[in-house]
Amino acid sequence: MSVPAPLNSLLLRDMNPSDLDRILNIEQQVHAYPWSRINFSDALDSGYLCKVYDEANEMSGYTVLMFAVDEVHLLNISVALHCQRSGLGRRLLHAVMGVARDRGMRRMLLEVRPSNVAALGLYKGLDFNTIGLRRDYYAASAGREDAIVMECLL
Ligand SMILES: CC(C)(COP(=O)(O)OP(=O)(O)OC[C@H]1O[C@@H](n2cnc3c(N)ncnc32)[C@H](O)[C@@H]1OP(=O)(O)O)[C@@H](O)C(=O)NCCC(=O)NCCS
Repeated sequence: MSVPAPLNSLLLRDMNPSDLDRILNIEQQVHAYPWSRINFSDALDSGYLCKVYDEANEMSGYTVLMFAVDEVHLLNISVALHCQRSGLGRRLLHAVMGVARDRGMRRMLLEVRPSNVAALGLYKGLDFNTIGLRRDYYAASAGREDAIVMECLL
């Protein structure tokens, strides 16, 4: 893995309910099947690690991670459309992997659609490996789509 340039850690902060309008705006632009406001509220209420990258009050990305004993599940990573392909996704994911490692997590897990070429490239570039497949996991325009399960040792 080539280590990305570090994120400006001062701009990475905890998500709070007042962010949700801006987050939902991004979410609806970048996902065919976006999370709802309730999904994000539940994540906050459940104490998941929810981070936003907030540049000059312009939110450019966010992540949601769920901790379970010594492993962490990446539930959402999104970069605003106009910020994509500038290395932010890689730096954001690398930063939250560091947070998880500092909290004693030993591995990160995630699911991704086989059709999500951008996300697959992001994960492979940070040394995630495929460890399984969940059949018909996601809603899709034609029926259902499988999920690739990936893991990275922290
Ligand atoms: C996946 C996502 C977070 C990547 O963020 P990003 O800031 O654009 O990614 P980066 O610029 O850091 O690129 C990292 C790597 O991802 C891959 N990648 C990113 N965008 C890509 C694209 N449009 N096509 C192909 N590969 C792409 C590449 O491998 C890239 O490495 P490279 O620049 O050396 O080729 C962003 O595309 C996104 O928000 N997508 C919608 C939400 C989503 O699908 N999230 C993941 C599932 S929850």
